[in-house]
Order: sequence, then C-alpha cells, then structure tokens
Amino acid sequence: MQLQKNFSLRKHNTFQVDAKASFFTEVYTLEELTEALDFAKDKNLSYFILGGGSNILLTQDFKGIVIALRLSGISEQRIDENHIVVTAKAGENWHQFVRYCTTKNYGGLENLSLIPGNVGTSPIQNIGAYGVEIKDAFHSCKVLDTLDGSVKTLHVEDCHFGYRDSIFKNSEKGRYIILEVSFLLTTDHHQISASYGAIQQQLEQKNIKNPSIKDISEAVIAIRQSKLPDPQITGNAGSFFKNPVIPIEQFNILKRNFENIPNYPSHQEIKIPAGWLIEQCGWKGKTLGNVGCHPLQALVIINSNGKATGQEVYNFSSDIIDSVKEKFNIQLEREVNVL
Ligand code: FAD
Ligand code: EPU
Repeated sequence: MQLQKNFSLRKHNTFQVDAKASFFTEVYTLEELTEALDFAKDKNLSYFILGGGSNILLTQDFKGIVIALRLSGISEQRIDENHIVVTAKAGENWHQFVRYCTTKNYGGLENLSLIPGNVGTSPIQNIGAYGVEIKDAFHSCKVLDTLDGSVKTLHVEDCHFGYRDSIFKNSEKGRYIILEVSFLLTTDHHQISASYGAIQQQLEQKNIKNPSIKDISEAVIAIRQSKLPDPQITGNAGSFFKNPVIPIEQFNILKRNFENIPNYPSHQEIKIPAGWLIEQCGWKGKTLGNVGCHPLQALVIINSNGKATGQEVYNFSSDIIDSVKEKFNIQLEREVNVL
C-alpha cells in the first residue's frame, strides 16, 4: 500500500478547495482496500472513501486516511435478445462508462451523460438527470460490508432508492463500500426518455423526430454544457441543494403570495425547484468574497476565483438557506456531502 502523508486534496475535489488528509492512499483491488481499512483500524484512524470528489465539500483538514477507490474494469452478461447486464467496477469514471454503453448501443443510461464522478458512487444518491435516475436501470451492486468484512450483493429492493437518496446515504450510511455496480440495459428495443422540456427543444432544433440513444446523449451533453460550469475550470459540486418537496397544503398557501411559483407533482407532494427560490431571493450571479452563485444556474455554488475555502462556501450556503427560509418558509437541504 502506497501511503502519502499530509496530502493536499485540492486536485481530488471538484470544488477545488484546499484541505489536507493526514494520510492518502489509492486502492486498485479489494485486497488493497482491505489493507487500507486494516491500517485505519490498527492506528485508530477514521477513514473516508473517495470517488471522483464531485459531491463533497471539505471544510477542514481530514485527520484520518482518505482511501481513493481506483478499482477498474467493465464486463457484460447477455440476458436475452433485448437485454444485457453491464457491470463496472467502482473506480470507473461515470461518463466514460455511459459513453461505453451508448457507443455499444446499450440503452438506459444515456440521459445521465456527463455527470461527473465514479460508477461506484452512482447509487449513493441515486444520481439523476433529465427524467431518469440510476434506479431505473440498476440491477445490483457488490459491496464490502464493513460490519463483518463480508462481500454482499444488494439488489434494487435492498437499496431503497429515492430522490437523491438511498440506504447508502441514509439508514446504512458508512456501512457499505460499493465495489461494483451492474445495470440492466436494452440492446435493441430502447425505451427512449425524451419528455424533459429541454431535451425536446434540443431535438426540435436539430429536427430529430425519432431520437436514438446517441441523439439523447448528445442533447443532454449540449444542455448541460450550456448551463452548468465545467468543474475543471470553475470549482463546484453541481446542485448544492436538493429541490425541496413540500405538502400540498403548504404549496397552496405559497401560491397565494407567489402566483408563478414553478412546481412538479412528486408522489402525494409538490417539488419546487430550489434554483427558482434562490433566484427569487436575489442570489443568482451574486459573488461574496471568493464564493458565488452561478449566473446561469442558481442551484450551483461556485469557487469563483479558485481561492475559496470550504468554510467560506459553507457559510455562503448557510446564508442562502436563511434567506430562502425567511422569504418562503422552506428549509433547503444540502445535497453535497460536507466534511
Ligand atoms: P465523491 O464526491 O467522491 O463521494 C461522494 C460521497 O460518496 C462521499 O460521502 C463518499 O465517501 C461516498 N462514496 C464515494 N464512493 C463510494 C463507494 N464506492 N462506496 C461507498 N461510498 C462512496 N448528481 C446528480 O445526481 N445529477 C446531476 O445531474 C449531477 N450533476 C453534476 C454536475 C456537476 C458539474 C458536478 C460537479 C456534480 C454533479 N452531480 C450530479 C453530483 C455528483 O456528480 C454525483 O453525486 C456523483 O455521483 C458523485 O460521484 P463522486 O465519485 O465524485 O463522489
Ligand atoms: N430555475 C430557476 N432559476 C435557476 C435555475 C432553475 O428559476 O437559476 C428553475 C426553472 O423553473 C427551471 C427549473 O428550476 O425550469 C428546473 O431547472 P433545471 O432543469 O436546471 O433543473 P434543477 O431542478 O435546477 C435538477 C437536478 C440536477 C439535474 C437537473 C436536470 C437536483 C437538486 N438537481 O436541477 O442535478 O442535472 O435537474 O435533470 O435535483 C445535481 O444533482 O448536482 C444536479 C446538477
């Protein structure tokens, strides 16, 4: 095991904030992962599992060992004429994996193109975009159960996927380390999901009537590039908050004061776009010190000049939470994992 001490994590989080880990190691196999966990146990250190670092905010140095998962490899198992199970190890880059699937004409993940991060992290918050969540194509995942060191297979019903939620983020937080994820994909008769307004607009612009999975992937990439900052250039972690889901009664009261409030039904409740709430509070495009609210997507907080600390970003997010609470009586919840 290659151990690095007092290691800067700046290049390992898409917010590009500087924080140090007492120890840092990259693991390429299950054996190396076990070795790193044993090291943490022996030294009585806490550990942190790192994927692509695109959904974390480091507000302080990490006094323990950061274990970066680099397990790689993709395999396939044909199920029937129209289905295949494709399995990727946790350290595979998500977008490269989606590309692998779309190039081979395997359908199911194309709406999730260009989401940063690794395959192993995708079940944690049930990543979603443009009308699809991974739960829709999820088959199973192999995990290391840190309670007893066993390797288990979890199926969709075990994971309790919800909107940006699963057992991995909630009831069993920290228990399982995801080693690989399998998806059930179509090889011929694809279920094209093109109902999201922005996708329809893209397809209309290109005069595409019967989109292929590649067309959907390209449309999604174009939409994302038009409004989300590239984390290689501007530090950010995508949506900083979840879109709040509120009871219908609360929504009806709000609608009396805010006639044009956008809203979407979500089971028996109403989902309100947090980007709209934040924009209404005057934050969109605003910069305070080194931190800003993105001018094209108010839900994204940015490290404006690359000099922000995690604590500054956190304070900025607290100010947003306070003003949305004051104006709309809605409590925003952070989507990003704060350390
Ligand atoms: P990390 O940030 O490395 O880790 C996140 C959390 O998961 C940490 O708590 C970590 O300990 C834990 N973890 C990581 N890997 C494992 C593992 N193998 N086993 C157990 N725990 C693990 N998300 C969406 O859902 N939809 C979007 O459209 C979207 N767009 C984004 C756009 C941008 C520009 C950015 C920067 C982010 C976006 N995100 C989006 C958020 C992010 O891409 C996802 O949450 C992604 O799944 C995070 O993956 P990661 O490997 O970078 O996770
Ligand atoms: N809106 C505004 N102002 C803004 C931004 C959004 O008013 O500055 C309103 C508009 O009414 C717009 C609506 O919000 O129609 C929805 O905006 P958008 O389609 O950009 O989606 P979002 O709700 O802001 C969610 C996800 C994204 C995902 C997109 C596309 C969450 C927290 N965010 O954003 O996921 O890519 O939908 O499906 O659910 C992420 O999780 O990191 C992420 C980027």
